[in-house]
Amino acid sequence: MARRRQIYEGKAKVLFEGPEPGTLVQYFKDDATAFNNQKKGTITGKGVLNNRISEYLMLRLAEIGVPTHFIRRLNMREQLVREVEIIPIEVVVRNIAAGSLSKRFGIQDGTVLPRSIVEYYYKSDELGDPMVTEEHITAFGWASIQDLDEIMSLSLRVNDYLSGLFLGIGLKLVDFKLEFGRVYDDQTDEMTLVLADEISPDNCRLWDVKTNDRLDKDRFRRDMGGVEEAYQEVARRLGILPEGGPRDMPGPSTVQ
Ligand SMILES: Nc1ncnc2c1ncn2[C@@H]1O[C@H](COP(=O)(O)OP(=O)(O)O)[C@@H](O)[C@H]1O
Ligand SMILES: [Mg+2]
Repeated sequence: MARRRQIYEGKAKVLFEGPEPGTLVQYFKDDATAFNNQKKGTITGKGVLNNRISEYLMLRLAEIGVPTHFIRRLNMREQLVREVEIIPIEVVVRNIAAGSLSKRFGIQDGTVLPRSIVEYYYKSDELGDPMVTEEHITAFGWASIQDLDEIMSLSLRVNDYLSGLFLGIGLKLVDFKLEFGRVYDDQTDEMTLVLADEISPDNCRLWDVKTNDRLDKDRFRRDMGGVEEAYQEVARRLGILPEGGPRDMPGPSTVQ
């Protein structure tokens, strides 16, 4: 394949210029980070599995009318997406207490929340992704009130749908993180919001319904072992484990 221009290298993915204007290629790496980059490692096969898992979930969400950046999967580690202007906010939806919420409020891990809670964090590695309110987001111009209304309603729809989908395969969707971006819609001549980035066990907490086993990145964060197997198990239950397992592919060739 022709060498492509690299646009950005993040912690889990590399973005390349896509074949047509307004498109990007997302390359999924095996690199894993936690605690704002303080812990680094690799999870063999993670990129292959997250590419499939995110493809699957974005396609299902598109079917229920959630606009997403996903266009098509290109190969084991790459997918073609629409280029968006990322809103620098991580939207976290929580159904069950875990992680920083348990810590901040002293709520025991696993406590079912009285209702789903949506939180916003400012995407900034330097600042450690600080939690922000709608006031910060609108005052600093990261998104408008209208954007936030839409982000909130889309996030809750994603939560309802994915909670049901995962429950159907014996998994509790404890919490997850979403990113949104803006694209120009030539039908309406306006900017519209779409779901971007990825949805995978890197940014969802998924617990087995019967055993409460963690099938997500917490296994890596907490050195629990069985990390690769957990990602594979999620793909297997979704019915999308690649034949022959998550075989490896050479890394991307890049033009800086
Ligand atoms: N469709 C898209 N268009 C432009 N940028 C995107 C799109 N989807 C995701 N991104 C951005 O690309 C990067 C993906 O790589 P990742 O390794 O997750 O980066 P990071 O370390 O910044 O989280 C993220 O910064 C994410 O916000
Ligand atoms: Mg990321």
